[in-house]
Amino acid sequence: MEKTKIAFFDAKDYDRNSFIKANEKEEYEINYFETRLTEATVKLADGYDVVCVFVNDDINRRVIDRLCAMGVKLIALRCAGYNNVDVEYAYGKIHVVRVPAYSPYAVAEHAMALLLTSVRRIHKAYIRTKDFNFSLNGLTGFDLHGKTVGIIGTGKIGRIFSDICKGFGMHVIAYDKFPAEGSGIEYVPLEEIWRQSDIISFHCPLTDENRHMVNEKTIAEMKKGVVLINTSRGALIDSEALVEGIKQRKIGAACLDVYEEESNVFFHDYSNHIVDDDTLARLISMPNVIVSSHQAFLTEEALSNIADTTLDNVKEFFSTQYSKNEVCYKCPSVSECKQKHDKKCF
Ligand code: NAI
Repeated sequence: MEKTKIAFFDAKDYDRNSFIKANEKEEYEINYFETRLTEATVKLADGYDVVCVFVNDDINRRVIDRLCAMGVKLIALRCAGYNNVDVEYAYGKIHVVRVPAYSPYAVAEHAMALLLTSVRRIHKAYIRTKDFNFSLNGLTGFDLHGKTVGIIGTGKIGRIFSDICKGFGMHVIAYDKFPAEGSGIEYVPLEEIWRQSDIISFHCPLTDENRHMVNEKTIAEMKKGVVLINTSRGALIDSEALVEGIKQRKIGAACLDVYEEESNVFFHDYSNHIVDDDTLARLISMPNVIVSSHQAFLTEEALSNIADTTLDNVKEFFSTQYSKNEVCYKCPSVSECKQKHDKKCF
């Protein structure tokens, strides 16, 4: 029997290692392309059954049309978020599967790592002591104990982050578009998150509705000195408004694992280049901004789960024409999807 052929885009060394291990029995023929999947590169998918993509591949209408015309049957996202795929346009044409959870602990722990680094000035101390500068001037932080943290999105990652914060003795309040009844979470309206929080952490998906939810107006509603943590998706924050908010000393610090224009720069080494993005350059130049390049998921455990689930999704899809991890814009949940479409989204 011919092996299912997978065109793997935006491949990095760590992806290769985990997928080679997950494909130990060589059930699949996987070809790794370093380039992202875009309109310009989609021709590489010719002759494949599946394209395997990540957060910065751009699967727009034209890419979907080309994939369908070439006979590609499945878009297998090796991530949870799918804002980079036009799922509405894909409906009825090509199936889309994702990895809904690989290690929510990895992301929640990274959010706390960024927060601690920021408020205890570890990023500054590290550079100083490397240069044998043992001065403490300018390194004063603040206790997290007793501070109010506002969590936006109380799904898998948001809840783990909440538990971590509670361990630090913080007061946790939360906003979710779909609050979990009976969960014991203290939900408040979004305006109260802005008004009450000393720290705000984003753990919701990016949608058309919440794009730039942090903007000039909402920053004005926040507490002076607020610390923002974004490990979710960059475009939740209007980056130019963020720069202004920091310049006006309204925002005390920003911890960013994601950035709205990240697809042009993240995951690549530009250390010998002049970066064209002035907003990113300005943010990085600020002493109270920490940027990591979409690294929150990057643990051994998460990479192994991503590889296993992605290949399981492919296997399930080709053996049953159904995947429990299908992304369908019409179905609010997989269980409803199954009922409506006899286990298939279309
Ligand atoms: P989840 O699906 O378990 O939880 C998301 C929560 O957000 C749900 O409770 C949902 O009701 C809520 N929500 C949906 N729309 C909302 C809105 N407009 N406003 C407020 N809440 C809303 O997702 P999970 O696994 O907790 O992941 C959260 C986000 O983290 C993902 O959407 C993704 O963008 C990001 N992520 C980032 C990674 C990284 O490496 N930086 C890795 C994995 C996920």
